Amino acid sequence: MTDHELAAHVRENRAYWDARADQWIASGEQGWRGEPNWGCWELPESQLQLLPRDMSGMAAIELGCGTAYVASWMARRGASVVGIDNSEQQLATARRLAAEHGVQLTLLHGNAEAVPYPDGAFDFAISEYGAAIWCDPLLWIPEAHRLLKPGGELVFLGNAPLASICTPVNGAAVEAQLHRSYFDLHRLDWTKVEHDPGGMDFNLPISGWLRLFRQTGFEVLDYLELQAPPGRTTRHNTPAWWAERWPSEHVWKLRRR
Ligand SMILES: C[S@@+](CC[C@H](N)C(=O)[O-])C[C@H]1O[C@@H](n2cnc3c(N)ncnc32)[C@H](O)[C@@H]1O
Repeated sequence: MTDHELAAHVRENRAYWDARADQWIASGEQGWRGEPNWGCWELPESQLQLLPRDMSGMAAIELGCGTAYVASWMARRGASVVGIDNSEQQLATARRLAAEHGVQLTLLHGNAEAVPYPDGAFDFAISEYGAAIWCDPLLWIPEAHRLLKPGGELVFLGNAPLASICTPVNGAAVEAQLHRSYFDLHRLDWTKVEHDPGGMDFNLPISGWLRLFRQTGFEVLDYLELQAPPGRTTRHNTPAWWAERWPSEHVWKLRRR
């Protein structure tokens, strides 16, 4: 597909991430070196338990893998892992790090809303701030369902809906104030604003996520609202004081029926 034929948000987000990939090299390198920890507040895997402990013999996919440190954690647990990402520049970092660490990954350039793999190809799918926020949930959740075997699990971590509605419409740091309609949450367009976040991302009201999962054929295994531990500093556009009081991030753990 040429850039011209891609949906507006996929095209926009590709340009956004290709332009900023160099700013994500250091955190990618750190992720590849370290033990699994998650999200802005680097909460440990022992607390969140997002990955099966032993992934031997499992086929896993990371949807919007970026520098692919999550993919590397799954490969080190024994899975055979595919990572798909919309940005060639992010994948260039991922490919270099995979070679440096001697970890075998299949890394694909593409859109996680339309993955070139057959139905039921995977036991486990995950996204940490990849498809989880940059893809349209009405497209990527059914696509993840298609990719999973019956009984397969999808885990994703992204912005909590409360954080999305507390972000000023000019993209400035999250505030203790409601800035947009909760019920209208879907596509958030940051392309014309002066501050990061930039690009176009997505969220839904919690009832909207639940309805989508039910209609798609997922059961909810768990829902986590993540709290920043004391003593953290601002990450991206979320002040730590805010995230100590309200959920800035959420995690869904789902199973395909
Ligand atoms: C923040 S990174 C996620 C990777 C890593 N877990 C992290 O937090 O750094 C976001 C990634 O999502 C990718 N992305 C955005 N839209 C996408 C799409 N439609 N399909 C696949 N990947 C996408 C971007 O290219 C970027 O590499």
